[in-house]
Amino acid sequence: MSATDTDGMNFHTRKWVRPEDLNANGTLFGGSLLKWIDEEAAIYAIIQLGNYRVVTKFISEINFEASAVQGDLVEMGLIATHFGRTSLTMRAVVRNMITRRTILTIEKIVFVNLGDDGNPTPHGYDSITYKRDRMPTQHSATGAIRLP
Ligand SMILES: CC(C)(COP(=O)(O)OP(=O)(O)OC[C@H]1O[C@@H](n2cnc3c(N)ncnc32)[C@H](O)[C@@H]1OP(=O)(O)O)[C@@H](O)C(=O)NCCC(=O)NCCS
Repeated sequence: MSATDTDGMNFHTRKWVRPEDLNANGTLFGGSLLKWIDEEAAIYAIIQLGNYRVVTKFISEINFEASAVQGDLVEMGLIATHFGRTSLTMRAVVRNMITRRTILTIEKIVFVNLGDDGNPTPHGYDSITYKRDRMPTQHSATGAIRLP
């Protein structure tokens, strides 16, 4: 399997399954995996929408099809499937690089683009960028952002 063979999806991030990522069964803890996916999706949304102020709105059904054990390497792939007015919908796939099995697929992860007031605001994009052309050029200064 190449790094781009699932519907043109790019698998940018790999994770090493560490002892702190295991459940009581000794396999990968679902909560750790969901945290990794949410972070990956947030970064993808920032790159696509050129805005740090993006938040997770919706995650569709998740079916854990296979797992991983300590020391395995997993890779995460995302692709934008729909640019809405204020939202971005993505599809996610996570694979075990050792067993070659798909760990999970998430058909819909929706992020919403927020304005300075914390309300949804149009992002103005309708297609995927494969470059860094929309990346913000200033630090996020998270501590300085006024929370709603
Ligand atoms: C994100 C938030 C500001 C959106 O508020 P809202 O009142 O739902 O806003 P809207 O109804 O204008 O919807 C905004 C966009 O989300 C989409 N959306 C809303 N609910 C949705 C759902 N259940 N599933 C998919 N998309 C949804 C809308 O279609 C709209 O997209 P579009 O403009 O591209 O058509 C608000 O729900 C919120 O703050 N949620 C918490 C987000 C958060 O903190 N996430 C981190 C985890 S706690």
